[in-house]
Amino acid sequence: MCGIVGIVGVRPVAERLVDALKRLEYRGYDSAGVATVHDGRLDRRRAEGKLFNLEARLAGEPLAGNSGIAHTRWATHGVPNEANAHPHFSGGVAVVHNGIIENFAEIRNELIASGAVFASQTDTEVVAQLISANLKAGMSPRAAVRAMLKRVTGAYALAILFESDPDTIFAARSGPPLAIGYGDTEMYLGSDAIALAPFTSQVAYLVDGDWAVITRTGAEIMDFDGNPVQRIRQQSTASAYVVIDKGNHRHFMEKEIYEQPEAISHTLGHYIDFAESRIRPVAGIDFTNLASVAISACGTAYLAGLTSKYWFERYARLPVEIDVASEFRYREVPLVANSAALFISQSGETADTLASLRYCREAGLKIGAVVNVRESTIARESDAIFPILAGPEIGVASTKAFTSQLTVLASLAIAAGRQRGTITPEREKALVGHLAEMPRVMSAVLNRIQPKMEMLARDLSKFKDVLYLGRGTSFPIAMEGALKLKEISYIHAEGYAAGELKHGPIALIDENMPVIVIAPHDRFFEKTVSNMQEVAARGGRIILITDEAGAAATDLPTMATIVLPDVDEAIQPMIFALPIQLLAYHTAVFMGTDVDQPRNLAKSVTVE
Ligand code: AGP
Repeated sequence: MCGIVGIVGVRPVAERLVDALKRLEYRGYDSAGVATVHDGRLDRRRAEGKLFNLEARLAGEPLAGNSGIAHTRWATHGVPNEANAHPHFSGGVAVVHNGIIENFAEIRNELIASGAVFASQTDTEVVAQLISANLKAGMSPRAAVRAMLKRVTGAYALAILFESDPDTIFAARSGPPLAIGYGDTEMYLGSDAIALAPFTSQVAYLVDGDWAVITRTGAEIMDFDGNPVQRIRQQSTASAYVVIDKGNHRHFMEKEIYEQPEAISHTLGHYIDFAESRIRPVAGIDFTNLASVAISACGTAYLAGLTSKYWFERYARLPVEIDVASEFRYREVPLVANSAALFISQSGETADTLASLRYCREAGLKIGAVVNVRESTIARESDAIFPILAGPEIGVASTKAFTSQLTVLASLAIAAGRQRGTITPEREKALVGHLAEMPRVMSAVLNRIQPKMEMLARDLSKFKDVLYLGRGTSFPIAMEGALKLKEISYIHAEGYAAGELKHGPIALIDENMPVIVIAPHDRFFEKTVSNMQEVAARGGRIILITDEAGAAATDLPTMATIVLPDVDEAIQPMIFALPIQLLAYHTAVFMGTDVDQPRNLAKSVTVE
């Protein structure tokens, strides 16, 4: 998704703005631009592609000015080229925008009818043109912005700069996030606290319906009716991660795969009382008498939720209603009274997940947020925040966030079992013991299987289609394996419940489509072996990911067998996630794709 930064400064801003954009690259983008005001003149540089293209443009044609706005664009309307890159100009007004102006066509036609000439195909340019028309109608900049906000509909985070008023940046939020940063002599604006971290750790988050007038001395925040509102200035945790780099890894994704033992140990420390070998008390949601729990999320976060469905049902005997958020939000789910809802989101800003949260809040459910960003919108709109403590995840493909989400959800399911009396203290102690083993087991697995996964990836990169199979909690892991492979290597892959093989997918089986079987030696193992025999009988190539007990229990010929340590079923999903992450990563490296910022993808999908 797009990234926004702005500075009302006391020294040149162009280079600082581009540096801040680099901290938003992880969101995914396809063009970028910066605009400043200097000596009463608005000017801009824009470039297609990555930020180094914009830096080259600035090196050749520097931009002066102590106030400016900048943007990384993830194209929604209009191809990703320089003409469509932000900032968009009109009559001394510069605008950058994250989101979608839903009524842009109607406004565009009106403005064209009154003589406006558009230079781009974007919805954003309508904002600049509308403000400029308001100025021509005699409005002040402040009145022109407010009138624009009354007219446009849709999802937007906006930063606006006027040639006539270089000491002010206007901002507005209705959907995608926007934060104001407080400096000693300067003020800042950014899509998130990570972008602002090099400037300040004092931030205030705008909420939907806010707009702000930002000058060097501070920010005036109002609602769309012009009434002043207060937004808490807080210490941003993002400042703790001022330096975000790859270390000695080639990609952020590789670094984040190997950070998992450390990330999981942070997560465990937050949820487990090791002295008592139990899950710490859960604040904000009491599972004791709940009739059911609804779970909704998108992508990998949804697959973490789907895995937790097995745990809530198994350990807490709690019925779970789960769906991808883009469906959940429109299904008009007949929510059961006395239920709770959990929303899982690494970014805490995913539009569909947020909409599903608001649907459940309207219905009066207790809302829990399993998030990586405590200050995110989803977190702020929840009754209980369950942080995953994975640290910033920069690679678009989610890895450490996924296993951290699983760890939090497993902890919540065990705590729910304790509250509901469906697991004994001894069972809880045993489960907590298995969770506590994870950092050590993950470390050992990552080091043991790395060379084999890299070799296997070389073979896998030659195929066009791959099928992943799993049963029980290995079924969501099979789907996650398929999602990881497709999103970064662009190889088509599907994840299926192994029991569904004979209901359709078996028609696909031949030597051209490897079948990756996720099969720990659990209660389903024998049934999954039967599925593998059905695949082998049709000339299918099998890649078996199992454990020591599983490897000893089958001598079926395979293309490759990856053997993991025997672990309790409670942590099998977290451990079996590792080989599928490494396999996708190395396959993408062989394919030569942009591993950290795969084509067409964004790290945080803040529009529906
Ligand atoms: C995962 O590898 C993908 N990048 C994507 O599916 C992601 O999980 C999904 O967009 C949800 O994002 P969120 O966790 O920030 O809500």
